[in-house]
Amino acid sequence: MPQLFVTTRKGEERSVEFEPGSTAMQAIYDANFADILALCGGVCSCATCHIYVDPRFVEALPKMSADENDLLEGSSHRNERSRLSCQFRLSPELDGLRVTIAPED
Ligand code: FES
Repeated sequence: MPQLFVTTRKGEERSVEFEPGSTAMQAIYDANFADILALCGGVCSCATCHIYVDPRFVEALPKMSADENDLLEGSSHRNERSRLSCQFRLSPELDGLRVTIAPED
């Protein structure tokens, strides 16, 4: 199975196997990372699934929607690598993706 590598807010990295087609949020949440709350269940209304994507993968991800962009605008921790992990699905091509969970707002 393909995997992604997730760094927690404490700087610990763990690998997570993912089912292609699942969202990054679901894969991280199912692996019991306490830092990802995903309070809205993945409908782009809470931003508690905010992650930073390794620069090498930013271009490989699906484009950000206007809704995702608007919600991230409200985060004081947004940067050029920010994504909401519920807003893109993982494909086999994203095997090896590295992400870091963003600080809590
Ligand atoms: S889980 Fe709420 S915006 Fe992603």
